[in-house]
Amino acid sequence: MVRRLSVEQLSVTNIRNLRSVTLNTSADVVVFAGRNGSGKTSLLEALYLLCTSKSFRAPRPAESITHGQTEAVVRGRLLDGTVGREQRVLLRDGVRSARFDDKRPPSLAAYAQASPVVIFHPGDLPLTMGPAQGRRQFLDRVAFYTTPNGTKALDDYTRAHRARQKLLETRGVDAPDIDPWEALVARHGLELMQTRQHAAAALIDATEHAFTQFAAPQLVLRGRYVPTAPDDEDSYLTMLQNSRVGDSHRGSACIGPHRDDLELTLDGQPLRQVGSQGQHRAAVLALKNGEITAIERARGTKPILLLDDVSSELDAERLRAFFSFVQREQVQVFLTTTRPEWIETGAFGEASSRHNFEVDHGVITRI
Ligand SMILES: Nc1ncnc2c1ncn2[C@@H]1O[C@H](COP(=O)(O)OP(=O)(O)OP(=O)(O)O)[C@@H](O)[C@H]1O
Ligand SMILES: [Mg+2]
Repeated sequence: MVRRLSVEQLSVTNIRNLRSVTLNTSADVVVFAGRNGSGKTSLLEALYLLCTSKSFRAPRPAESITHGQTEAVVRGRLLDGTVGREQRVLLRDGVRSARFDDKRPPSLAAYAQASPVVIFHPGDLPLTMGPAQGRRQFLDRVAFYTTPNGTKALDDYTRAHRARQKLLETRGVDAPDIDPWEALVARHGLELMQTRQHAAAALIDATEHAFTQFAAPQLVLRGRYVPTAPDDEDSYLTMLQNSRVGDSHRGSACIGPHRDDLELTLDGQPLRQVGSQGQHRAAVLALKNGEITAIERARGTKPILLLDDVSSELDAERLRAFFSFVQREQVQVFLTTTRPEWIETGAFGEASSRHNFEVDHGVITRI
């Protein structure tokens, strides 16, 4: 029996246009159908908040709260394998607070790490089309869920790299403290490269496989982590020392994990250059599948999957292939669509259990 995480019950107060909503969500597939602006993405936002204490689209907590209100609450009952727990997130005065079974977690990061969630939404499309920063963040996110001290390497490296840069810019290339800072940059840089390399290795096979399953069986998507710094500490340090003058003008070191990329190719050509719109969408979905697999392998539990408006992103055949693929993955899926007719026609496949909801002006009705 596969262990998986699921949200069995959800209750939302004052998230965007959702004033007061309580839903039974104990199904394999939960569909939210409704017109543009009805509140579908807000429901996924509430689910994401419940799992992570953060919004996936708004950097500030206040943006998620209904206009004119001062606080928002999301509560839910989660099942992790056979173990149930209550979770609650409160947004008030620009501050987030979270509880497991009415108890305070050690930190908000610890709270988020406990309930892995993978999301696809239209804002994700630059992941394969856009600059490398998005792909680095994607790997860091996977590492957050799959390594015990998930963001430590990133935090340590970022701090050391910033300190070296500030020294170079304010005190010059012969600043007295520059050597120890460069030693830290190289040490934490290597740690971060290794963390990301592990994350990439954990997701790449599943990503490549997923792409053949629902995108294009005859096309080969390949991915690999491409570091910019050498993988031994001495050479790394020497390169840093030799690039001080250029780095002080450039605003950052010319090598290091802040410049690395998760390189993606389609039949040997750079995906960024040759990919069609649909191929990019499929590649993003394939990466999300890789993320699910990496989390499952590291944690022994399948994460929750949130799919926002995926129906408008793929053609009918690819979408059918994608849904049957997702159902074989046996994750709990929440998805939104503007096409209610899809619910009747069974385009979402033969889920062993499915709850359908209609969303209209922030009011949710089971259908
Ligand atoms: N802070 C807020 N307070 C109240 N309403 C808000 C707030 N932020 C956004 N809204 C409104 O909430 C409504 C629902 O937005 P949401 O993004 O959930 O729609 P949607 O159903 O996903 O639409 P689409 O199909 O266009 O993506 C919109 O009308 C939006 O303008
Ligand atoms: Mg939406």
